[in-house]
Amino acid sequence: MIIIKTAEEIEQMRLSCRLAAQTLCMIAEHVQPGISTNALNDLCHQFILDHGATPSPLNYRPSPQNPQGFPKSICTSVNQQVCHGIPGPRVLREGDIINVDITVCRNGFHGDTSKTFFVGPPTSRNSKIVRVAEECLRIGIQAAQPGHTFNAIGNAIEPHARLNHCSVVREYCGHGIGRSFHEEPSVLHYANPDKIAKLAPGMIFTIEPMINMGKADIRLLADHWTVVTKDHTLSAQFEHTILITPGGNEILTLAGGEQDNLSAGAVGAENPFSMANN
Ligand code: MF3
Ligand code: CO
Ligand code: CO
Repeated sequence: MIIIKTAEEIEQMRLSCRLAAQTLCMIAEHVQPGISTNALNDLCHQFILDHGATPSPLNYRPSPQNPQGFPKSICTSVNQQVCHGIPGPRVLREGDIINVDITVCRNGFHGDTSKTFFVGPPTSRNSKIVRVAEECLRIGIQAAQPGHTFNAIGNAIEPHARLNHCSVVREYCGHGIGRSFHEEPSVLHYANPDKIAKLAPGMIFTIEPMINMGKADIRLLADHWTVVTKDHTLSAQFEHTILITPGGNEILTLAGGEQDNLSAGAVGAENPFSMANN
């Protein structure tokens, strides 16, 4: 069952999602050569606590392999890591790309957003995948209109990835979000005509395409969390939490003031993916 949020719940979600976006905004300036992913984790952890919330990933989803659940407060996925990378002693180097995925729980409501950063200046090797992943999120958001099916989202994203000779990861999807970190529905980033449920005002979910330079196939590392590309090619991801409104949608994971918090280069008159319904 897909939950339709009440006006009060939507107000709470706006606050949680804004805090997640502000955390991502805060950490952006620290993503520099020489910093460890542990240091990024600790800065975000403290920032989230200082703002009266808790980091949703910490101890999330214990399993027989991981009795403590996810061991850190954010996910940091570097280069060929697709998602769910665990912060640790690894030090970032110029030329790396890193997705930082932030989920906070404030007053019982979760907000979830992520972005892929360049470590140092973009390179000829890494700039395309980041651009395409960001465009895929934007295209997915544009397709998320009341009355459209959930299939419209993946059906819009997948051709854009393919046109750019990139691939869409199939095993991990966007998700409903609210009082639970992951709720129904699963939001696929590839076409599946079985996804006939329709978007309706009051639904809140994430769109978070994981886009690979090479093949879509992935592998899970021995830590039972980190997902990597099987062919070791680069992978990038951007994520927003959105609310379906009567007239379109509202991106909830904005830090405040800005039109959107995707990377600066994608915003402008020449960008064909600007948000029409926002
Ligand atoms: N934030 C991720 C998502 O977008 C989920 C991370 S779960 C964790 O859905 F346990 F790895 F943190
Ligand atoms: Co996330
Ligand atoms: Co998510």
